[in-house]
Amino acid sequence: MNAVDIITKQKKGEDLSRGEIAFMVNGFTDGSIPDYQMSAFLMAVVLKGMSRENIVALTEILRDSGDVMDLSEIKGIKVDKHSTGGVGDKTTLIVAPIAAAAGVPIAKMSGRGLGFTGGTVDKLESIPGFRTSMEKEEFIRGVNERGIAVIGQSGNLAPADKKIYALRDVTGTTESLALITSSIMSKKLAAGSDAIVLDVKCGNGAFMKTLEDAEQLAHSMVDIGKASGKKTMAIISDMSQPLGRAVGNALEVREAIDVLKGGGPEDIRELSITLAGAMIAAGGIVRGAELAEEILSSGKALEKFREFLEGQGGDSQIIKDYRLLPQAAHSRSVKSERSGYVSGVDALRIGLASQHTGAGRETKEDSIDMTAGIVLNKKISDKVEKGDVLFTVYANNPDKLVKGAEEAMTAFAFSKTKAARPNLIKKVIE
Ligand code: URA
Repeated sequence: MNAVDIITKQKKGEDLSRGEIAFMVNGFTDGSIPDYQMSAFLMAVVLKGMSRENIVALTEILRDSGDVMDLSEIKGIKVDKHSTGGVGDKTTLIVAPIAAAAGVPIAKMSGRGLGFTGGTVDKLESIPGFRTSMEKEEFIRGVNERGIAVIGQSGNLAPADKKIYALRDVTGTTESLALITSSIMSKKLAAGSDAIVLDVKCGNGAFMKTLEDAEQLAHSMVDIGKASGKKTMAIISDMSQPLGRAVGNALEVREAIDVLKGGGPEDIRELSITLAGAMIAAGGIVRGAELAEEILSSGKALEKFREFLEGQGGDSQIIKDYRLLPQAAHSRSVKSERSGYVSGVDALRIGLASQHTGAGRETKEDSIDMTAGIVLNKKISDKVEKGDVLFTVYANNPDKLVKGAEEAMTAFAFSKTKAARPNLIKKVIE
């Protein structure tokens, strides 16, 4: 077997054997296949795609390149949730306690991530005392005792994917259904749950800009999840404007608590109930969505969240006193210069603005300002009078505050007549 033959086969769009895919992936990971050959192979995958069998094989080879979590000591059907990434998406902080309160064991491994804000682990770590770093035994005990535990992603989770992803990033090979599916699903499969609920974002703040592309990705991931023996379903949700109003780590924790208390923005509440309902159903419990709504409205999800925080060393007093969360030294409210209706709040620009304030990392080495970010006062379809506050920017660094505010201002579009609210849940794929 040699790399040139395999690249040539892939270039012609021919099916590869599992052994040939393993030869490329494992060879690149151990250094015996150089970057330039792997780049050529990846570009051939981008241009010719892969058969379903080849995507399944690639996913499983990536999964098996590192640790695969064994969650068999946890009783019941373990359900995981994954979002393909968006702006203001704090749903994990809400859906995980709802599903856990319904009796679905949540053993979640979450990442930090690059991007507009930190990942779920960063958001949780903005809570004083909260720990996401622990031994596997403590993690399993947490799930068995409280029904929920969240741990930071192991450094050895699908390491082949990590190395390939870094190469894709610099060789124009990120946009491939086969590569995105295998990359995401390899990590989900390695995380060890029995069922997976995917939230595939669609819109300009997401990886997939159109409904057609989001649908293709959702079908592909559901298919590969099922082929690997996991119950998998996907929800396609809107990311043309940010989800909720808060974008930034501690700011999002606060908004998630608002929702757990029965308030908060309607869109985040609706999506959380839909996702939690799907997780509860995947866990084999009937009336998933109804139960999710009941658990949220009754305060049981908030109680579960409190138990979860305390179980992992977090200060649960933040629930009643948000001032105990990190607070920004500077803030600036930006007002509208015109009257009318908001017709657009470009999610990508708000995401970039949030990153400029210091809420997200540009490189792995960057540190995050937990206090930084943006809170939107106006979203699509809202009426605006000249002088109304459109948004408030928060940061510890005054220069970053200004940069974030300038970028956020470019996100807004206005119309004379009331614009329709985007449809939040676009499709469900079983
Ligand atoms: N997220 C991943 O983990 N991998 C991709 O390829 C795209 C998004």
